[in-house]
Amino acid sequence: MAEIRSIGVVGGGQMGSGIAQLAAVNGFEVWLHDADSTALSNAHESISSRIQSIVSKGHLTKEKGAEALKNLRCTSNLEDFRSVDIVIEAIVESEEVKKKLFVRLDNIVKGSAILASNTSSISITRLASATSRPGQQVWSGQLAIAPFVLLELASVERIKLSGILVVIGMHFMNPPPVMKLVEIIRGASTSDDTFNATKFLAERLGKKIICSQDFSGFIVNRILMPMINEAFHALYTGVATKEDIDAGMKFGTNHPMGPLELADHIGLDVCLSIMKVLYAGLGDSKYAPCPLLVQYVDAGRLGRKKGIGVYQYS
Ligand code: CAA
Ligand code: NAD
Repeated sequence: MAEIRSIGVVGGGQMGSGIAQLAAVNGFEVWLHDADSTALSNAHESISSRIQSIVSKGHLTKEKGAEALKNLRCTSNLEDFRSVDIVIEAIVESEEVKKKLFVRLDNIVKGSAILASNTSSISITRLASATSRPGQQVWSGQLAIAPFVLLELASVERIKLSGILVVIGMHFMNPPPVMKLVEIIRGASTSDDTFNATKFLAERLGKKIICSQDFSGFIVNRILMPMINEAFHALYTGVATKEDIDAGMKFGTNHPMGPLELADHIGLDVCLSIMKVLYAGLGDSKYAPCPLLVQYVDAGRLGRKKGIGVYQYS
């Protein structure tokens, strides 16, 4: 099984910065990249201040905090990912944009590197199909399982070109340093080696693992997002105020946040993207995004990160 020492994280937003922080605090060398230089410097600033806050609360020694910051390198050049053992992609929830990134990464990272996506809902098999990893890891994985099996040339070629054996879903929850779960999604042909190395990494990061088949929304968002969407419908159709809808779920069912507050925490753009993937992928009208959710996103009310979503902040 491939040993992971060095981690590349793409996307320095809510999730990418949290994943980078978590990995750096746990002793991994971390490269963090964002296409937007302001987002990258904001990510560095927020990771530094969160690590300082963990140190000041006494949850981490001063030395470990300093070490974590030394482990983290922010770069605006994706070429710096050449020697990483795994890339965790955490950019915008768009299949098209993610696929473009996977094509670029495929040409940069070493042949044995795992390409993991933190996608909330998009098919890992389809993201993987954008890559054509060089054969090294693919060959060794196959040959280790069946060293004496002669594969037909055509099927070897297909395995080499598909590149999907080293692509996997590694779905962290928001905020990654705090939430205890990582959902692992195997694409149609994710290898056991890739799965085991990813699971081992998630465990090293202190997470509980669940495994999902590669269907839209996987486990968590298949269940969570329809609830959030329904909360928008309740607000849209005047069932109750936003405060009462949230209080109903918070105090009535012991959720840490009400569904509308949680949508603001996740990002309304992310919620809408996930609903669209569920609707397209599962083909049932029950997954159609609520018009109010669509309208808020159109209006730029994206949640906490923009200072306004369902609620107004600051
Ligand atoms: N990054 C790092 N740490 C953070 C943080 C962040 N963004 N936000 C809060 N924390 C830390 C705080 O520093 C604090 O740490 P200590 O206990 O060491 O002091 C701890 O979390 C608790 O924070 P607070 O006291 O400020 O606030 P809280 O008690 O209300 O907890 C919360 C905040 C953890 C977010 C809590 O409200 C919660 O669990 N909410 C639900 C979150 C949730 O459901 N997330 C999953 C969303 S679904 C998903 O992620 C999948 C998807 O694809 C959309
Ligand atoms: P975000 O909007 O906070 O951050 C996305 C970052 O990616 C931005 O800083 C943006 O500049 C950067 N980016 C966009 N395109 C890029 C590219 N081509 N190359 C490099 N950087 C690029 O988003 P987020 O909430 O952190 O979500 C990121 C991913 O994680 C999405 O796939 C989302 O579905 C998933 N996710 C989100 C949550 C959540 O609660 N927000 C939870 C789990 C998973």
